Amino acid sequence: MRFLRKNVWLFTAYPWFAAAAPAASTDPCAKIAGLTFVPPAEALACYKAFPFNQTLFENVLDNMDRVFDFYTFEDYYLNSPPPFQESTNNIRATLATIRNTKFATDYDFNKALYDFTTQLNDGHTRYFPTCYNVFQNLLPAPVISLEVNGVFNVHIAPDSVAFINQLGTGYTSFFTSIGFNWQRLAGAKVLEIEGMDAYDYVDLIARTVSGNYLDHGVRVNSVFTSYRISGTAFSQRLGDLAGPEDVTHTSLTFKLVAVGSNTVETVEIPYLAMYSGSPFTDSASFWAGNCAANSATNGVDVRQQGGLQKNARIAPRRAKASIIDGLTSQAIGLPGPFLPTAPPVNGSEDVIKSFILPDKKTGVMFVGSFEPDDFDQFQSDVVSTTAAFKAAGVTQLLIDLTNNGGGFVCLGQFLHQFLAGSQIGYPGFQSTQRGNALAQKIVAAHVAMGANDVGTFYSPDNWAFLNDTVMPVTNNYDKPTVPFFVNGKFDPTSQRFHDTCTEEFSQPIPVTPPFDLKKVAIVSNGDCASTCAMFSTLMFERHQTKIAVFGGKPGEVMEYKGMAGNQVLEWSDLDTEIKSVGLDNDPLAPPDLLVNSNFRHNWRTAWSFLDETRPIAYVSELPLLRFPYTNDTYNNPQNLWTSAAAKLFV
Ligand SMILES: *[C@@H]1O[C@H](CO)[C@@H](O)[C@H](O)[C@H]1NC(C)=O
Ligand SMILES: *[C@@H]1O[C@H](CO)[C@@H](O)[C@H](O)[C@H]1NC(C)=O
Ligand SMILES: *[C@@H]1O[C@H](CO)[C@@H](O)[C@H](O)[C@H]1NC(C)=O
Ligand SMILES: *[C@@H]1O[C@H](CO)[C@@H](O)[C@H](O)[C@H]1NC(C)=O
Repeated sequence: MRFLRKNVWLFTAYPWFAAAAPAASTDPCAKIAGLTFVPPAEALACYKAFPFNQTLFENVLDNMDRVFDFYTFEDYYLNSPPPFQESTNNIRATLATIRNTKFATDYDFNKALYDFTTQLNDGHTRYFPTCYNVFQNLLPAPVISLEVNGVFNVHIAPDSVAFINQLGTGYTSFFTSIGFNWQRLAGAKVLEIEGMDAYDYVDLIARTVSGNYLDHGVRVNSVFTSYRISGTAFSQRLGDLAGPEDVTHTSLTFKLVAVGSNTVETVEIPYLAMYSGSPFTDSASFWAGNCAANSATNGVDVRQQGGLQKNARIAPRRAKASIIDGLTSQAIGLPGPFLPTAPPVNGSEDVIKSFILPDKKTGVMFVGSFEPDDFDQFQSDVVSTTAAFKAAGVTQLLIDLTNNGGGFVCLGQFLHQFLAGSQIGYPGFQSTQRGNALAQKIVAAHVAMGANDVGTFYSPDNWAFLNDTVMPVTNNYDKPTVPFFVNGKFDPTSQRFHDTCTEEFSQPIPVTPPFDLKKVAIVSNGDCASTCAMFSTLMFERHQTKIAVFGGKPGEVMEYKGMAGNQVLEWSDLDTEIKSVGLDNDPLAPPDLLVNSNFRHNWRTAWSFLDETRPIAYVSELPLLRFPYTNDTYNNPQNLWTSAAAKLFV
C-alpha cells in the first residue's frame, strides 16, 4: 500500500474531525449531503475525509486476530486444495503485513481489510465496515455472457433499458444532463473492457471484487447480471461489474459493437454511486450515523436481558448460513415481460415461487432463499405447493436455486427431509466447531451452569449426539477435543455432532418421498450459498439428484454450489456467546469494536456425507449438465425452466 508520509502527518495533526470538522465549504461530505446519487469521486472524497486513527486501527486488528481463532477454515487457506487454489492466503502473515502498513486515511485501512477478506472468497468470513459500504457504484451497462448461434460473447444486457430505468430519474437524469446515451448500448457486443479482453476483465472482477464463493467459475456468474428473488419478489441483480460496493472507479472504457452496427467503437461509460446509509449533513454527522459503534455493533450478556432463569431460553436463536449481498434493500424488479406467464401455485407468497410448466407434468419450485419472512410459512409453503402439484398431476419437480444466498440451516434440512421422506433419518451433515482454547472455556462454562444454562449457540443442548439424542446441558463436547491436521497444522475440533432441526419442523414429514427422487432435478447459476449449498450437496450426495448449471465463462469449469460453510456467526453473535458466559475479560476474547463494523466468520464445518474427513466446502462436485445463457433465458426464468426440463427429465 502506497501513501504519502507527509499526508499522514498533516491529517493526524488535525484535531479529531468531530471536534473540528472541516469548514462547511471544504467539507467533502457536506458537499454531497442529502443526495441519493453522487459521482463516485465525490463519494470517495467524503470517505477520505477521516484521518487515519491508531486507536481504531489497533482495535479492529485485535478484534480480527482473535475472531480468526474461531474460523473453521483458517488452516485450509495455507494451501487451498484444488480446484480452489485461487483463495490460498496465509491469513496471519497477511494480518501482520497490514499491521506494518502505514495508511493515509481510515478509509484506506478499512478498504485493505475489506479487500483482504473479500478475496478469501468465503461469504461467511468477511469484514464489513458500514462506514465505507454505504455507497454502491452503478453502471448503466450490466453485462452478461450470451451464446448467439453457437458463438459466445460478453454483451451489455439486452433488457438494460427496462431494467436500469427502474433506478428512477434520480439516476437516469444524471446521464441526460451530461448527454450520455446509455440506452443505445443495450445488447451491444463487448470486445474489451479497460483495455483487456472482455472475458479476461470478467475474470479479474471475479478474482478481486466478487468474493463470497470459493469456486472461481461461480464468481464469474456473480460478475454478470442475473435474475433472482429479492425479499419476496422477482428481481434482477446488476452483477459485480455494474454494481460493486465500491467507488474507486469513476468509469469503465468499453470497446463494443452496438446492436444494428458493424462498427467497433470505444465508449467511456460513467458510474454513478447510490447512497444507502443514514442521513447526514457533514462529515461529523456522516461519522456519527454510519461509522461510530452503536448499540448493535457488539454483543450482549443475555443474562442481563431478563435475568438468569431456570430453563428460560432467549427468543429463538436459529442457526443461519447466508451471505450478505449488495443492493438487496433497493432491489430492482425483473422487468414485466420476463416474469413467468404460468400462474403461481399455492405457497408462492414468501421466498418460494412455484409454477406448473405448460407441459403440465413439470412443477417448478423457485426457492429464492432459505431466509423467508416467516420460518414456519416456508415449511407450510412447501407442503401446499406439493399438494397443488400432486392435485394437478405433476410428476417431475424442478428446483431452481439461482442466486439463493442461503438462510436458516434448518429450512435447508426441512426441504431435504420433506422431499426424501422421514425414512432417510437425519437430514443434515456431521458438524464441528473449532476446538480452540477460548471455545473450550466457553463450552466448559455452559456445562458449569448446568440447569441454569443460558441457551446460546455453544450450549450443549443446542446439538445432538450422532444417534440424534439431544445432548444434556452437562455434556462437554469439547472434552476432549478431537485431533485434526490441515496442511500440516494441528487444528483440533470439537467432537462431532448433529443439528437439532427436526425439533423445529412445524409440518409433518411424509415417510416416503412425495415425488420419485429420480424425477427431482436442480437448476441454478451456481451462486447458491451456505444453506443453499448444503441443501444441494445433500440432494447430490445422498440421492444423486441431477443438477444443471447455467452461465459462467465458456471453457472454464464451475461447481454447482458456491460456498458451503455450516453456520455463520456475525461478530455480535460471537461476542454474545462470550459475554453470556462471563468470559469477556478473558485475554483470548476479542475486544469490543469501537466502530460500526462487522467481522463475521464461518463458525462450523459441515463434513461430507461421502467422505467424513473433508468439509463439503472443499469437495469439488461438478454439475451433470452445463448450459450457456441465451438472450431467451438469462433473464427469463420460465424459458430457462422449460429448456432445462427438456434436458434434465429424459
Ligand atoms: C481516535 O479514535 C478514538 C476512538 O474513537 C478517539 O477517542 C481519539 O480521539 C481519536 N484520535 C484522534 C487523534 O483523533
Ligand atoms: C390452495 O390453498 C387453499 C387454502 O389453503 C386451499 O383451499 C386450496 O385447496 C389449495 N389449492 C390447491 C390446488 O391445492
Ligand atoms: C446416544 O448416544 C449417546 C452418546 O454416545 C449415549 O449416551 C446415549 O445413550 C445414546 N442414546 C440412545 C437413545 O441410544
Ligand atoms: C433479446 O430478446 C428480446 C426479447 O426478450 C428482444 O426484444 C431483443 O431484440 C433480443 N435481442 C437480441 C440482441 O437478440
